[in-house]
This record gives sequence, structure tokens and C-alpha cells, in this order.
Amino acid sequence: MSDTSLPQRRLVILISGRGSNMQALVQACRAQGWPAQVEAVISSRPEAAGLDWARGQGIAAHGLNFKDYPNRDAFDSALAEQIDRYAPDFVILAGFMRVLTPAFVARYSGRLINIHPSLLPAFPGLHTHAQALATGVRAHGCTVHFVTPVLDHGPIIAQGCISVESDDTPETLAERVLEVEHVVFPEAVKWLVQGRVRLESDLRVSVQGSPARLFFLNSHVQGA
Ligand code: GRF
Repeated sequence: MSDTSLPQRRLVILISGRGSNMQALVQACRAQGWPAQVEAVISSRPEAAGLDWARGQGIAAHGLNFKDYPNRDAFDSALAEQIDRYAPDFVILAGFMRVLTPAFVARYSGRLINIHPSLLPAFPGLHTHAQALATGVRAHGCTVHFVTPVLDHGPIIAQGCISVESDDTPETLAERVLEVEHVVFPEAVKWLVQGRVRLESDLRVSVQGSPARLFFLNSHVQGA
């Protein structure tokens, strides 16, 4: 059900590939009547499958090939120019596989959100599922957070948790983490567009209404 008393927020989503998280956001936004609209989807790879899906939904979709730019600064400037055409309130990184420059992060400070496939601060960077298996952690998952200049370290909005089983592989972990990503990400972005998320002075996040901010993939919680 849509809430017409809240201002309409404009979203731009950045992807690099399949775009299943972007799809989960678009579908939740429409089905739940968020006070928001996805204005555009932009990919760092023009061949990204997610772009076709977005176009099919009537959403503006652009591919910006990082290989066409001499360096990170040039790519990030072009990316910011494209994003700013849509005057977004929030820029959502949904499987965007490029490290962003400090200037880009500063430009969207407090408005730039990412999903990372680990329980941060554990396992920033790449190959998070292999890292989880290598260290023997029994819990793994995903984190939705504000982006700051330090890679995968920003203030945490919400997390999703799965248990690690003895026969897990990086692939089976990725599959279950993705499942919980599709639950956590839409919830966290919904709170954002509802204006319920605050960044406190100590850089921790509070969410109005105090919803549970840790989600479990129940079918895989041992003993549940
Ligand atoms: C997700 O696991 C995301 O957390 C990670 O890359 C994957 C992207 O998947 N950064 P998709 O493109 O959203 O399907």
C-alpha cells in the first residue's frame, strides 16, 4: 500500500552484471508502494544482463564501460554526470563491482548505499564466501551499509545471516547469501526512502521504529 504523505524519493541503482538485487529492489518498490521510484539503472559493464531486464520494466538503463576511460577519476566523473541527470536522493550499489574514488564517495556522502556479501567487518573485498570457508566461521551473510572512503567499512544499516554447513562450497554459500540479500536489501532501502534511517554522530545507524535489523535465512538456521 503506498504512503502518499511521504515525499517521493528518486533512486539510481548501479550494477555490474546479473542484477538480481536490483530486480528485488524494483519489485519491492512497486509491489509495496514505496514512496520512491527507480529513475535509472547504470552498469559499469554495457553487456550486463540486468540492463535488459530494467529496460523491459520501462526503466532508463545505461551501460558505461570503464574500459573506455583512462583512469578511475575519469570513469567516476562520467558516472557521476550520468547519475546526476536523474537527480537522485539515493544512489544504490547493487552488485556494482568497481572501487569508487574518494571524490565520488564524498559527492554522494550519506546518500550512497551498498550491499556486501559478508557479515562486515569480516571479509571486506572479493571472494567473501571462500574467505568465510577458509576461516571456519559458522555464520556468514550480507551487510547493507552506507559507503565511506574505506572499502566495505561504512555504517551498517542491516545484516542478513545464514549458517555455514560442513559440506558448503563457495557456490552453495553464495546461493544462500544471495537469497538473504534479496530479503535484507529491500527492507533496508525501504527504511531509507521512508526517511527512517539516521546516521548518528558516532557514525552508527539508527532506524526509526526500531525494526529488527538482523535477518535470518530460517530454513538454514540449525535447530530451527
Ligand atoms: C551479490 O552477491 C552482491 O552482494 C555482490 O555481487 C552479487 C551481485 O549479484 N556484490 P546481482 O548482480 O545482484 O545478482
